[in-house]
Amino acid sequence: MKLLILSDLHANAEGVKAILQKETDIDAIYAAGDYVDYGPDPCGTIAWVREHQVHAVHGNHDHRVLKTWRENHFRGLPKDEKWWVHYNCELLHPEEIDWLAALPTHLCFEADGIAYLMQHQYGERYEIIESQYHFDEYWAKHYTLPMKPGQPRRMIFGHSHRQAMTVFPDGSLWLNPGSASYRRPDEPSKDAFYAVIEDGEISFRHVPYDREWLFAETVRLRPTMKEEEYHVAEFFFGWKESDGPDYPWLAFIKDHFKH
Ligand SMILES: [Fe+2]
Ligand SMILES: [Fe+2]
Repeated sequence: MKLLILSDLHANAEGVKAILQKETDIDAIYAAGDYVDYGPDPCGTIAWVREHQVHAVHGNHDHRVLKTWRENHFRGLPKDEKWWVHYNCELLHPEEIDWLAALPTHLCFEADGIAYLMQHQYGERYEIIESQYHFDEYWAKHYTLPMKPGQPRRMIFGHSHRQAMTVFPDGSLWLNPGSASYRRPDEPSKDAFYAVIEDGEISFRHVPYDREWLFAETVRLRPTMKEEEYHVAEFFFGWKESDGPDYPWLAFIKDHFKH
């Protein structure tokens, strides 16, 4: 069985389209949340996820958009008070909001004899599971399917946008496929990150993708962006490959993208 593991698409379906061009014979796609916010294409992204029958859980940004939409905190806002969440709310339709609202927090499944538990994040901020004890504790609380004795256990997380894996003493592990959209400011790669699990074998991968449309769409949607915001967009979706630690707007971006 070949599973494609995604996370943190963030209103950007261009990365996942490039991933699917590279990866063929996928049996099932799983995604660990954050389909919207921080990008210009929430509708196209949700459409892609639904069209490909992705097994999905919700993320904190899905919740944020949902809450803002339901509380109506986006209509009539002055342009200089609008941020991605407000632009996403303006674009989304009630039916897409209902889809976001129906996403579960946890998803349990089995593949090739391995038990999987998927969710967006652990803790309130960017905590990670660091010990066997905490892995077992979390598993006992959230895994709801029957298990066979000695069955291997794996968790899938998103949220940090960092591709990573931690293996515990009994062979259990958690993995994060990274973001299929954009990196944290201290990671200069612009590729779409993901993981493939084929017959139980985990492989972390990334693929370059064309961000030109995303950047053009961002500028079209938000013609009155402040200079700082323009540079954030450029950082996420721009063409520069040199946006590393010396990027002049890094401090601003770090300050505004803590979540
Ligand atoms: Fe995210
Ligand atoms: Fe998140």
